[in-house]
Amino acid sequence: MQQRIGQGSWHAHTEEDTIRLAEQLAAWAKPGTMIALDGDLGAGKTRFSQAFAKAIGVNGVVNSPTFTIIKEYMGESLPFYHMDVYRLSMEEADELGLDDYFYGSGVTIVEWASLIKELLPPDRLELFIEHTGEESRRIALTGYGELYADWCEALLKIGASE
Ligand SMILES: Nc1ncnc2c1ncn2[C@@H]1O[C@H](COP(=O)(O)OP(=O)(O)OP(=O)(O)O)[C@@H](O)[C@H]1O
Ligand SMILES: [Mg+2]
Repeated sequence: MQQRIGQGSWHAHTEEDTIRLAEQLAAWAKPGTMIALDGDLGAGKTRFSQAFAKAIGVNGVVNSPTFTIIKEYMGESLPFYHMDVYRLSMEEADELGLDDYFYGSGVTIVEWASLIKELLPPDRLELFIEHTGEESRRIALTGYGELYADWCEALLKIGASE
């Protein structure tokens, strides 16, 4: 059976609009939630992750995990696994046993996720963040699987989107 795919885009005119998207996704997050982020340097992947972490109740500072690869935090009711795989080869990523995170009790956000596409769970929400101006971003949404396809459709109804 073919996997359902949902698509759309979220137009963030300001940083606040990116934060609103992160907050909405945080409200839906549950164990096993998987969000894959891509986009240029400085697009806002880490900024999105910080807003998401805050919204699920992580206290304190969420830094870019570029050098640490994986950071674990505790939100109000869910662990949060924040990854940046920019510096990893596929082989190194494979050895980390990422499935323990992806299918664990928390929610995972991976920056530069497309670099390890083969290792990602088949069901996931992908966000591709693209600069369209100083503060404006086009965030392309692709939801793979029933749940994430539904999320995409719901996001399109919420706004700052086309
Ligand atoms: N609409 C917006 N959405 C997200 N960030 C924005 C927006 N407008 C401005 N910014 C700023 O852009 C910067 C994005 O930096 P961030 O570290 O999140 O990028 P990144 O995609 O994680 O980059 P890298 O690939 O280097 O990890 C932040 O300084 C943030 O304040
Ligand atoms: Mg980053």
